[in-house]
Amino acid sequence: MAVHSLGYVRVMARDLAPWRRFGAEVIGLMTAEAPDGSLWLRTDDRPFRFVIEKGDADRFIAAGWELLNEAEFHATVKRMRTAGVALRDGSAAEIKARCAHGLVSGTDPDGNALELYWGRFRGYDPFMSPQGVSGFVTGDLGAGHVVLPTPQLERSVDFYKSLLGFDDTDEMRLVMSPDPAVPELCIRFLHASCRRHHSLALMPMPVPSGLVHTMVEMRDIDDVGRALDRCVAAGYHVSSSLGRHSNDGMISFYVATPGGFDLEVGCMGLTPDWSTWVPTRSLIADTWGHKWSPPPA
Ligand SMILES: [Fe+2]
Repeated sequence: MAVHSLGYVRVMARDLAPWRRFGAEVIGLMTAEAPDGSLWLRTDDRPFRFVIEKGDADRFIAAGWELLNEAEFHATVKRMRTAGVALRDGSAAEIKARCAHGLVSGTDPDGNALELYWGRFRGYDPFMSPQGVSGFVTGDLGAGHVVLPTPQLERSVDFYKSLLGFDDTDEMRLVMSPDPAVPELCIRFLHASCRRHHSLALMPMPVPSGLVHTMVEMRDIDDVGRALDRCVAAGYHVSSSLGRHSNDGMISFYVATPGGFDLEVGCMGLTPDWSTWVPTRSLIADTWGHKWSPPPA
């Protein structure tokens, strides 16, 4: 009874056009118009991995967590409800909009919205990146990962581990100041049952957009380099230069999206065997690169 992978990310936007341009022309995602007027962004044979919905703000809405089958879905929902978590059954319209077979929605202890679902439709048009990206690493690894804000790290980690079946991959402890009185920044990286190094990370910092960042993984480092070139050429704010993370080994850069959060675009992330994995503690964030730039005023 565990979440299998990150299935999708829902985003609210006042205007869909900036996301259409960012997704298709800059990152190289395939776009499609959803029946309800939302914008679908595709990275593979699913109808969408990001859904951009019209609203009155530019922000993250919810993470969609995939359960492998109906039995896993109902067992997880039952466990959460038994623990007192308020979950709302998805309406027929919501289930149809997510291209799922079953859906519930709720929040984690910090109010981060989440959805659990099972069963997915397929996008029948073959995936073709409009920018020639050779492909995105999804399939059995899910869409990528999300990093959510949490003021109470341990409470949040316990929620995702004990109720949703996540488990520890890595705990990063970063010295943020030469002043020993300034506490270390602790970030927790959790894996679902799929072999992606982490589908979820939890970070004790407030984020106005509701999401620290989300990540897409490309097949090849040349795909990542060309995406970085397109971001720079189009004038997007590159929040972090190219670098390699110490824990998941991913080579990536970060770019500010129209949603007020960053997108990490990477490749070569680790896919551990969980039966032999020993959770790690990382004392540095990166083995090289990843120089951060504050957003323009
Ligand atoms: Fe990341």
